[in-house]
Amino acid sequence: MNAIAALAGLGTALPSRRVTNEELSRSLDTDDEWIQSRTGIKQRFWSAGETTSDLAVEAGRNALSSAAMDTVDLLIVATTTPDHPCPATAPDVTSRLGLGTVAAYDIAAVCSGFVYGLASAAAHIAAGLAGSVLVIGAETYSTILDPDDRTTSVIFGDGAGAAVLRATAPGSPGCLLGFDLGSDGSLKDLITIPDGGSRQRTSRSGPTGTYFTMQGRPVFRHAVDRMTESAGAVLDKTGWSVESVDWFVGHQANARILRAVADGLGVKSDRVIIDLDRVGNTSAASIPLALARAATEGNLVPGDRVLLSAFGGGATWGSTVLVWPDISAL
Ligand code: COA
Repeated sequence: MNAIAALAGLGTALPSRRVTNEELSRSLDTDDEWIQSRTGIKQRFWSAGETTSDLAVEAGRNALSSAAMDTVDLLIVATTTPDHPCPATAPDVTSRLGLGTVAAYDIAAVCSGFVYGLASAAAHIAAGLAGSVLVIGAETYSTILDPDDRTTSVIFGDGAGAAVLRATAPGSPGCLLGFDLGSDGSLKDLITIPDGGSRQRTSRSGPTGTYFTMQGRPVFRHAVDRMTESAGAVLDKTGWSVESVDWFVGHQANARILRAVADGLGVKSDRVIIDLDRVGNTSAASIPLALARAATEGNLVPGDRVLLSAFGGGATWGSTVLVWPDISAL
């Protein structure tokens, strides 16, 4: 029987600069009450000079320590904010982690990037192409936010989360038991950085064309619908009932989105992990950061059944499930 990928280690990193809602309300037409009631976010961390690769290296090193491993066969970085448009960030991270010349590549699936990364790693392991993979979701959204756009600036934060996956026998704790992935490119304009790519190399309209833009309301609606469908689909595929799920760990976009998805699925609200109050929406880093916090605070314990689901620009979405293994997040 083929080997299956299991979670063997988890690590995180946050930049040093904490940015409160109150601080943002000094430069933007917003306030703490609006941000907390509409999103659930109390604060976020923004780069004080740390790059995406810096955060990825720190989270990756912590994940390797958590797994008590010093080598892997493949490294994947999921990010919307690579250090450069070219080359990918993953080879640099691999080199700086001292992992030698192993395969390394980036995934661009925006906020679904970590789940896409897990699926890619699991596929490498199932195909026998790798025995272990380091998957890192790392972001510095503060570098692409329009400082004058109150709808995006209050939502996004920087950070990184990393997971070591290792080939194991089916039935072991931590196994990723199935995936549901999808995309809908007709929604590509809902979340976009318009300029800087092959369609529009240089900015048409000054810096605004190179900033991240988002149509909040439709994104909200599609995020709820797709995460609910995708999470339901992966439960069907793996034969888990909703009642058997101990924790729903959704992409930390907005507390109202997470509550609506949980309601749609029939997951009780006290089974929903919330981390966005502390870090905002950290895109590809949000699920591993939320998992690490839940494990560190003692909510997520070995044997718990965990459902992960994400939605992001593209549009992309994806879900997976696992039984929580006996690991310490670092
Ligand atoms: N502070 C104060 N007011 C704000 C604001 C802010 N930071 N941002 C927007 N507003 C205003 C709007 O201008 C609008 O004012 P108007 O009624 O006078 O036109 C009003 O609040 C409502 O705007 P709307 O965009 O409809 O608010 P909303 O309830 O949909 O919340 C988001 C906005 C962005 C929080 C919400 O749409 C959202 O979370 N969307 C999904 C975002 C997301 O998850 N993105 C990542 C997906 S991977």
